[in-house]
Amino acid sequence: MQNDKEMKILAIESSCDETAAAIISIDQNSQPQGFQARLTPGVKEFRPIILSNAVSSQVDLHAKTGGVVPEVASRAHMEAIIPIIDQALSDAHIETISSITHIAVTAGPGLIGSLLVGFNAAKSIAYALDKPIVPINHIEGHIYSALATELKNQKTEESKNRFEFPLLALVVSGGHTSLILAKDHGKYEIIGETVDDAAGEAFDKVSKLLDLGYPGGPIISRLASQYRNENTGTNLIFPRPMINDNTFNFSFSGLKTAVLTEVKKRTDIRDLDKLEIAAAFEDAVVDVLVTKTMRAIEKHEPNTVVLAGGVAANKTLRGSLIKAISNYCSSDAALESRTTEQTSRLQEHRSKNIQLLVPPISLCGDNAAMIGLAAFYHIQNNDLKTWDQIKVDSNWELS
Ligand code: KG4
Ligand code: ZN
Repeated sequence: MQNDKEMKILAIESSCDETAAAIISIDQNSQPQGFQARLTPGVKEFRPIILSNAVSSQVDLHAKTGGVVPEVASRAHMEAIIPIIDQALSDAHIETISSITHIAVTAGPGLIGSLLVGFNAAKSIAYALDKPIVPINHIEGHIYSALATELKNQKTEESKNRFEFPLLALVVSGGHTSLILAKDHGKYEIIGETVDDAAGEAFDKVSKLLDLGYPGGPIISRLASQYRNENTGTNLIFPRPMINDNTFNFSFSGLKTAVLTEVKKRTDIRDLDKLEIAAAFEDAVVDVLVTKTMRAIEKHEPNTVVLAGGVAANKTLRGSLIKAISNYCSSDAALESRTTEQTSRLQEHRSKNIQLLVPPISLCGDNAAMIGLAAFYHIQNNDLKTWDQIKVDSNWELS
């Protein structure tokens, strides 16, 4: 276990279209964690703290092409990587890089040309400083973003929350839509994922076909709430693919096709049509995501639920999940097709008040603070590597 109060992790992320670096340290007010703390309930644990979180976004570059062009992305990472590391160090008031104690880096999944830029920078720094390095799975990073609370000021962000296991995470981004069950830090099982498009990808594609711009999520979301504010409702209902099947998988490509069919039906499409389509589309995505997450909660009885990834910035999704979980915890209705024993277990679970952790909007999209937060727990478990022991894997599956 690492209990060095001087711990300073330099975390680097470049898996898609954000070049990011962050410094994570140990919260000086926290106490040792690990074996002792687990044996003695109530003992406080070491907590991480975000000293800086610098992100250089390529959104403007990719807006021109309506999506990420891998070659363009990796070239932009090359230009941004050193300046962003410098910025993370200076925002954290670190004068010399040699005071860094650990390096953390996203080693997959992602675009290989993008991953390699951050990965090789991290590897070189670990070699030059002769410091341990922690390769982090990007999806694991998104889960750990939920440990951070809202930025108190631009520079420092304290993480107050803690994970109570088992934990269920819904990670929704431009590349992933997964339901993940974690039994402990670093122990994952993917219980469901998209069989075609990711949720964020669906937002981006629908935005493109409505000619609204990139990235689609924030635009669609803004138009959807404008529609709801100005109208009492809509008769337009899009299909909810796979909502009733008995897996925890998702599918969004049929929904995108349904939107396309609707757009073609409405010749001479006006702004109001776009607002209505945006609202009905967002309703369908949110309904599927929340329904499946709630079903996974009933089955796996987690103590913590995490909503993370770029799409977790969606206000309708955040609100619906908060509401569904609070209804679940306050309801005592017996469920159909359950034995008395199953029902009483479920009621016990409901009464425990599951904690829902959702990162601040600023940490929903890709960033390096989340990579450093995940690395913090690997370091606590002495799960460290040297620069020559790590590999990049663009298809790395969390397990
Ligand atoms: O996690 P992220 O930054 O990058 C990936 O790992 O993919 O997620 C980006 C995705 C994009 O598809 C974007 O459209 C979506 O997150 N997104 C949103 C919202 N903000 C970003 N989707 C829905 N509603 C939003 N408010
Ligand atoms: Zn991501």
